[in-house]
Amino acid sequence: MPEFPDITAHVECLRRITVGHTNTAHRTAAPRMSRLLAMVALLCACGRPALPPEAARAEARRVWTDRCAVCHGVGGRGDGPGAKLLPVKPRDFVDEAWQASVDDAHIAKVIVDGGRSVGLDTNMAANPDLQSKPEVVDALVELVRGRE
Ligand code: HEC
Repeated sequence: MPEFPDITAHVECLRRITVGHTNTAHRTAAPRMSRLLAMVALLCACGRPALPPEAARAEARRVWTDRCAVCHGVGGRGDGPGAKLLPVKPRDFVDEAWQASVDDAHIAKVIVDGGRSVGLDTNMAANPDLQSKPEVVDALVELVRGRE
């Protein structure tokens, strides 16, 4: 019968290391880890953190200048240089009767999903990238409303 080395001491040593590990490292790391996971989960749930209102308004003004003014005009009167080429002209957003006839949700939907989504002209394109930026859409709605 071959002689096995006495491993009792090693086992005891290992047990101490593991127990020590659980007692110190794990106990302190675990709550930290769960807080971290909770933060990650929260970030995933909320997606991108929302821009503060001033930043959202600044971005909305940039979007208006870059993407909207060409047809709607800088002041939203429907007199942008591109409007001449359009078979269906963009309306004058200063028209109070129209303003009273639509809610903010309609305006937001036209902006994000395009004219087609509400039965308007297809030259009013969708802006799918704004789907994930509701605060910028809200600020654009304010611009259309003339409140900005
Ligand atoms: C290529 C030209 C063009 C561009 C660029 C454009 N629009 Fe339009 N938009 C139109 C036209 C044309 C209509 C009118 C559609 C109709 O009455 O059938 C319209 C309609 C709208 C309406 C709905 C008005 C209503 O009668 O209910 C809103 C709101 C609007 N646009 C906002 C925007 C915003 C904000 C942008 C920029 C992100 C933008 N548009 C970019 C052409 C454009």
